[in-house]
Amino acid sequence: MYAIDHEDLGTPPSSSTATVRVEIDGVSVTVPQDTSILRAAATIGNHIPKLCATDTLKAFGSCRLCLVEIEGRKGYPASCTTVVAEGMRIRTHSEKLSQLRRGVMELYVSDHPLNCKGCPADTHCELQDMAEVVGVSTTPYGSDAAVHRNQPHDVSNPYFAFNPDLCIVCSRCVRACDEIQNTFALTVQGRGFASKIVASQDEPFLSSECVSCGACIEACPTAALSEKPLATLGQPQRAVTTTCGYCGVGCSLEAEMKGEEVVRMVPNRAGGANAGHACVKGRFAYGYATHPDRIRTRMIRGKITDPWREVGWDEAINHAASEFKRIQGKYGRYAVGGITSSRCTNEETFLVQKLVRAAFGNNNVDTCARVCHSPTGYGLKHTLGESAGTQAFTSVMKADVIVVIGANVTEGHPVFASQLKRRLREGAKLIVVDPREIDIVRMPHVQASYHLQLKPGTNVAVMNAMAHVIVTEGLARDDFARARCEPESYRKWKEFIAQPKCSPESLEAVTGVPARSVRGAARLYAAAGNGAIYYGLGVTEHSQGTTMVMGIANLAMAAGNFGREGVRVSPLRGQNNVQGSCDMGSFPHEYSGYRHVTDEKVRALFEKSWGVQLEAEPGLRIPNMFEAALDGSFRALYVQGEDLAQSDPNTQHVTAALAALECLVVQDLFINETAKYAHVFLPGSSFLEKDGTFTNAERRISPVRKVMEPLAGLQDWEVTVRLANALGYPMSYAHPREIMAEIAALTPTFAGVSYEKLDRLGSIQWPCNERAPEGTATMHVGEFVRGKGRFYLTEYVPTDERSTSRYPLILTTGRVLTQYNVGAQTRRTANVVWHGEDLLEIHPDDAETRGIGSGDWVGVSSRAGETVLRATVTDRVQPGVVYTTFHFPDSGANVVTTDNSDWATNCPEYKVTAVQVVKVNQPSEWQRRFHENAELQRKLQSDARVSPA
Ligand code: SF4
Ligand code: SF4
Ligand code: SF4
Ligand code: FES
Repeated sequence: MYAIDHEDLGTPPSSSTATVRVEIDGVSVTVPQDTSILRAAATIGNHIPKLCATDTLKAFGSCRLCLVEIEGRKGYPASCTTVVAEGMRIRTHSEKLSQLRRGVMELYVSDHPLNCKGCPADTHCELQDMAEVVGVSTTPYGSDAAVHRNQPHDVSNPYFAFNPDLCIVCSRCVRACDEIQNTFALTVQGRGFASKIVASQDEPFLSSECVSCGACIEACPTAALSEKPLATLGQPQRAVTTTCGYCGVGCSLEAEMKGEEVVRMVPNRAGGANAGHACVKGRFAYGYATHPDRIRTRMIRGKITDPWREVGWDEAINHAASEFKRIQGKYGRYAVGGITSSRCTNEETFLVQKLVRAAFGNNNVDTCARVCHSPTGYGLKHTLGESAGTQAFTSVMKADVIVVIGANVTEGHPVFASQLKRRLREGAKLIVVDPREIDIVRMPHVQASYHLQLKPGTNVAVMNAMAHVIVTEGLARDDFARARCEPESYRKWKEFIAQPKCSPESLEAVTGVPARSVRGAARLYAAAGNGAIYYGLGVTEHSQGTTMVMGIANLAMAAGNFGREGVRVSPLRGQNNVQGSCDMGSFPHEYSGYRHVTDEKVRALFEKSWGVQLEAEPGLRIPNMFEAALDGSFRALYVQGEDLAQSDPNTQHVTAALAALECLVVQDLFINETAKYAHVFLPGSSFLEKDGTFTNAERRISPVRKVMEPLAGLQDWEVTVRLANALGYPMSYAHPREIMAEIAALTPTFAGVSYEKLDRLGSIQWPCNERAPEGTATMHVGEFVRGKGRFYLTEYVPTDERSTSRYPLILTTGRVLTQYNVGAQTRRTANVVWHGEDLLEIHPDDAETRGIGSGDWVGVSSRAGETVLRATVTDRVQPGVVYTTFHFPDSGANVVTTDNSDWATNCPEYKVTAVQVVKVNQPSEWQRRFHENAELQRKLQSDARVSPA
């Protein structure tokens, strides 16, 4: 039978560089100082029986099964909690030890009889294994001591169950929740035999503080905590290592399969980004892939009010291609374009931009990073020379001060957040810059030293004020800046930032942050040995998004925080492959590897490889495509795996543009909001159905491997290949590894990447080339990628989007842990039990003046539009600020957001919209039209006719 073979060495490794030599059962072994005897023995294949120990958790010493004898010492110490000492002679087996272990095991078995038949863990249970090892199958104590039996099972969580009958109270789950997830949701209640595991205050798991990460299940040695499908589907037969299809953390997962069904997703202990941890999305929320809403057939129609017609792949592809050709023939080469997906693989993304450039013959290609991290690309490229995070996630374990700006890490990047919290519990300091009191500000055992609760839209002012303190108080690392940065740019920046207008006191009224807090935070950051800055969309999605990214880079350069472990400037990417889609040349002005289309040498390289002459001018960005669609010059669009109609700002403007197109081709898993405006629907493949790679926020390229056959018959890259061929541009690849070979040949930062190397190393952080054949964990060591770092002046310019008497509140947006982006995937999973609708957070003062209570329907209006959703009254937001998420299409957060955007990149200003909020009792006009169209489209889909052969 299949079993994932994780050799458990019993306790975590020691980080000591000193070594100790000991003798275990006559065998000499040298191990790092502070290694447990249990681990030292395991390294030479001597697996001492154990139950409460596992190498992912600190030793606990409760089960007493791992006893050993040490020459010259009395008694029988537990080998998991006893560390080696030079010259120690240890005996792991003796008649006395066997007797003691049997005694311990008989007690366990009295509470947990070995009636294993029918148990989901049968043959995969550590208790069962250890009972066999120590030679126990029955117990002299009978079953009277069984206190954990016949207790109610907790099946409240949709994904896993707790069966107290099977619990041996080893505390591994409690420790996993504390040490790995850092949520502290579990405790041992009671004493001795009466002790039991409880969630929060003895609550059902569902309503407890548990965030369903699954770490406790992973740690449980029995089936007391186990995934529900294990009970219904039985033990898996095979496992495929792949990468989570959700967020930019990029967790490596083992998809454990029975036939074509996923039994469970187990976080990969060797995963470079997650080291055996996952969150509720990656671990459990994969059911969308086989949801009945999945569209498995190809469909075409003449008008968006016509019923769909189901056709074969050839007809669908040929129809799409002939429409693109017809439109280009009529309106010209530039009248068409394509959108790549940050959820698809690098290989698929590369092919879509290649199709646009080589088959359409223009550069009208863009990606959803336009609406999230395009300012990161621009800002970091100009200051540092490379538009990506500078370090590996593990670098946080060496940070002394961690600054989190505009990133709700526990919700958006949960596995990284667990690591960050671990570091904070070890003593690192935390500064949070966020308009809301996000969870990380105050959690069990974690509290921010400073929470700079700024007014939305004033990031640059706060950053300038922090930099002002560092410069004017002589805290800047002039030695670093002089050696590593352009001296003239540093001089000018210092001059600019030292001006009184940049002081915390001058900017206090603007930012709303007390000057003393800014000064304190700046001093803390500057004085840190290692200062690390993590930021998210709360930085980029502003009219000064790019300025703020540059401000962050300036601050880190001035503090000397580059080029070693523990320091960092790190964009936390939202979607699984945002980094990759940008790397792969999805922007209209750049080829893969961020090389400008106007660069003749680079263009010649691509022209030679692709056998066509390429357009030398940058193409249209997404907002320009919309404008051009409305003015009639842009007529057709190929959208792979992106829901523009829900994710882009000013929904009514977006849908008007989509409705104006003559041909919209959507390739997706579901009829999403964009597909309601489509003329051709090409069914997509989920991450479980394809081969390829994703690149995460630490530049880590990780393998995505097909675990089941594509439900619609083709992987997404195969569809693009067919479309290119139908357009008359030949593409021929037998497997995505060949696409990666082309990417490597054309992209210097990927030059050393291959599937063979990925299989060997597990993952690779780019740049990977001759200079760094196994990849690069830390960038900008010794010098910046651009040579000398460049400081940019970051004048604070208030956004035009200000509160007025008509729109007196500022709306800002974000996400929650259990939902993902536009929710197309997570809304089709049991995750809706935690978040079934988007709510508007409003401060008690603002709620009171409007007569609003939690649960009331409220109308939110801006100059762009109006929507209605329910309110929740909370002081997580400050007075004057309201907040919502955008996971449900009919709550219409983006009906309200405007098309204001970043000056450099057009990234929308999602985070600042002036709104009015009033109590209402009916949906908005937009919502009425939305529901009418949704109903019509549902009918057109259900009326889909199969094309006559
Ligand atoms: S639920 Fe599992 S891990 Fe937790 S105490 Fe019980 S047996 Fe141990
Ligand atoms: S699932 Fe995660 S958060 Fe919930 S109890 Fe287990 S370890 Fe804690
Ligand atoms: S943290 Fe992100 S990548 Fe990891 S399991 Fe969760 S959603 Fe997936
Ligand atoms: S494994 Fe050492 S005491 Fe339990």
